[in-house]
Amino acid sequence: MCGIVGAVTSRQAQAILLAGLHRLEYRGYDSAGMAIVGENGIERRRTVGNVQELDDALMAAPLAGVTGIAHTRWATHGVPAVSNAHPHVAGDGRIALVHNGIIENYERLREELKQGGCRFESDTDSEVIAHLLDECLRRNPEMELRDAVREAARRLEGAFALAVISANDPSRIVAMRVGSPLVVGLGIGENFVASDVPALRPVTDRFLILEEGDLVELTAAGITVWDFQDETAVRTTLRITTDTGDADRGNYRHYMHKEIHEQPQTVRDALEGRVGRARVLEPAFGVNASAVLDGTRAVTIAACGTSYYTGCVARYWIEELAGIPCNVEIASEFRYRKFVVPDGSLFVTISQSGETADTLAALRIAQETGFEHSLTLCNVPVSSLVRESELAFMLHAGTEVAVASTKATTAQFVALMLLTILLARRAGLTAEREAELVAALRQLPEVVAQALALEPRIRALAEQFMDCHHALFLGRGLQYPVALEGALKLKEISYIHAEGYPAGELKHGPLALVDDDMPVVAVAPGNELVEKVRANLEEVRSRSGRLYVFADADSGIVEGEGVTVVEVPRVHELLAPIVYTIPLQLLAYHTAVLKGTDADRPRNLAKSVTVE
Ligand code: M6R
Repeated sequence: MCGIVGAVTSRQAQAILLAGLHRLEYRGYDSAGMAIVGENGIERRRTVGNVQELDDALMAAPLAGVTGIAHTRWATHGVPAVSNAHPHVAGDGRIALVHNGIIENYERLREELKQGGCRFESDTDSEVIAHLLDECLRRNPEMELRDAVREAARRLEGAFALAVISANDPSRIVAMRVGSPLVVGLGIGENFVASDVPALRPVTDRFLILEEGDLVELTAAGITVWDFQDETAVRTTLRITTDTGDADRGNYRHYMHKEIHEQPQTVRDALEGRVGRARVLEPAFGVNASAVLDGTRAVTIAACGTSYYTGCVARYWIEELAGIPCNVEIASEFRYRKFVVPDGSLFVTISQSGETADTLAALRIAQETGFEHSLTLCNVPVSSLVRESELAFMLHAGTEVAVASTKATTAQFVALMLLTILLARRAGLTAEREAELVAALRQLPEVVAQALALEPRIRALAEQFMDCHHALFLGRGLQYPVALEGALKLKEISYIHAEGYPAGELKHGPLALVDDDMPVVAVAPGNELVEKVRANLEEVRSRSGRLYVFADADSGIVEGEGVTVVEVPRVHELLAPIVYTIPLQLLAYHTAVLKGTDADRPRNLAKSVTVE
């Protein structure tokens, strides 16, 4: 997705900006650009394709100057093209701007600006901001750039991080964040801004993390931050010495453990720039997302393993909220069976790696057999699924090293809920209901952190699982796929045979397995199905089964002889699968650690299954 780098220094800025852009490549992008303010005002270079293309263009025609901004763009409004690449300029080239995020009300602003005589060079929402700034400065030539940014920002709806330079003052960059990340890098006699810490690690290890609504002015000599109320603000400086944050285990014994604990942040990252105050921002799914979603009458999801289970949860969401059929397919089955393509079908693949051979084959078959459109929800921008799908939504979970998927899974859930809301909007989802779901999504990182705080309790429970040979996982409705996922996690890394079942199926077979040796795990939030689940749990209890129930305070399920209850934090009913997945990840992890299996690299399994 889009990336920002800015530098105000006393040496040539070009090399710093280019190095930063190269380090942002992992986020995925389709074009890149740079603007530097030098003796002749602002000059820029923009190219489509790899940052290397920009590198080559700059090699042929370097940009001189000590203050500049640069950008990698992932198209949301307007196709990948040089004219749509950032930086965008306005005021006869006296202002240049880079922007991450989505401006929801850009069409209205664009019309207003056009009526005022403004000419647009691109199809982007971002260019609107450059012209708004220019309009402010024309109206009031004495206005400081930072005041113009503040004033323009007041008119913007959506999520954004931006950085601006002006030919009138080559000694500063003004940047602001609302709903999209932005960090300031502190140097000695130079300062930097970027959307992401890794972009600036070659030039500094001192960072200032901006807060929501912060506006910052950077000069080579110092920085000043103003908060949302326009009061000067002090932000804590952090020393970050790791390089990418992904590549090392830090103080964790296993990557899996680290990745489980990263989930409050990765859930936040999956949402960042994709939701406004009360709405999901549609272009987050790509340039043609609106047209594709307008025509969507049915959804088919294809995926493997954990990604398939997240898709199974989405079926409940999509059919309930959007009221259209949603079919979820195991990719390795789908590719070899005859199927009917419902009219107006959107084919959705879900994949952490983007390279899973069966999922990729399913996509190719879908494209040949009449599915009109395709979308992938993927964590690796430079992957085959992203390349070959019409629309792509990046999960932003960061590199997942452990074979067992954890943080990519919760990011997939977030992506699927955002997709559901967009489809549901077309089916009459009210603005109030959408705002309620967006508010619940915004609270999710905090609830996930509360779920992680259950770890000591779960570590102790794992001692009761480590010597088991089998385990059953039960859930109903939205929690049934969570039970499947919990069983997969446990078997995958601890080698304990585990099965997930819809709790209502118990008496149709698996109940025969239950005895005092068999742990039965149930996921049972206090929703409309909880009474049914309680009845199923009684069936287990009366056969001396050992019950471990993950439930919230509303479930009414209490501990007793043979029944252990772990109280999971309350969360919006529809988002419960995301939160209940977390304790099951921890249970699998701690069981594996106690058993002494390799939690990161379980036997016989690979992180990216590129063969059939
Ligand atoms: O990369 P993908 O999401 O396409 O991978 C699909 C499965 O191979 C994967 O989810 C697998 O089941 C994991 N090891 C589960 O933890």
